[in-house]
Amino acid sequence: MNYDTELRRHNELLRRAAAVRPGDHVLDVGCGAGLTTREAARAARDGSTLGVDTSEPAIERARSQAAGLGNVAFEVGDAQVHPFPAARFDLAISRFGTMFFGDPVAAFTNIGRALRPGGRLVMMVWQAAGLNQWNVALTEALGPTDGRGAFSLGDPAKVEEILTAAGFGGVGLEEVREQLCFGPDLPSALDWVSGFTSTIEALRKPGAKERLREMLEAHLTDDGVWFDSRAWIVTAHRD
Ligand SMILES: C[S@@+](CC[C@H](N)C(=O)[O-])C[C@H]1O[C@@H](n2cnc3c(N)ncnc32)[C@H](O)[C@@H]1O
Repeated sequence: MNYDTELRRHNELLRRAAAVRPGDHVLDVGCGAGLTTREAARAARDGSTLGVDTSEPAIERARSQAAGLGNVAFEVGDAQVHPFPAARFDLAISRFGTMFFGDPVAAFTNIGRALRPGGRLVMMVWQAAGLNQWNVALTEALGPTDGRGAFSLGDPAKVEEILTAAGFGGVGLEEVREQLCFGPDLPSALDWVSGFTSTIEALRKPGAKERLREMLEAHLTDDGVWFDSRAWIVTAHRD
């Protein structure tokens, strides 16, 4: 299992919304292992993509998977303060990589500076914790699991306020109700979820692994272990 397999339905929708055009210069914020960066690069053809992530191991994976693609680059960096070239990009994208900023207004201001005037932001973020069945089920099985802020951009009014303060206009949110897959079968789902940063600690408690197994089993179908989720595709442009 990997994150790309988990989010394959979400990815399709984000790619459509991003609508990268030939010649675009694209910034992928919190790019992780870089599937969205590679896809953007293919669509950008003679344009380019830059993926940025704070995680060195993720950027190493991203670089090795993008070998052979001539118009992709990756940098280890914190998007809140990274010295991006000013007004370089036509489009900033992110698949669940923009919810973890300590100072979101500063972070989106920095990302906005990297966009040319009129440049677009298209990002996918989770809706509120309690609306995401996968999170509710994990919390019921293991106790509170989100210490990092995965749901920090769930409130539309707050998103609009942050982006407006950061110099973006035309903020829009499109609801995404899709299922995500934790694995093709029970052992792989158990293995995958047990590796989440958010579950590792909780799984040390007695009985936790058994509770997790039972919860995942309740969501097992012929086609894998699936959960409902709710996300936003947020779009905006640099004023
Ligand atoms: C949920 S993962 C998504 C990764 C990738 N977008 C994907 O869909 O495969 C969130 C990513 O955001 C990165 N991240 C968190 N805070 C960041 C920051 N301030 N600047 C850049 N990347 C950040 C994490 O290291 C992680 O790789």
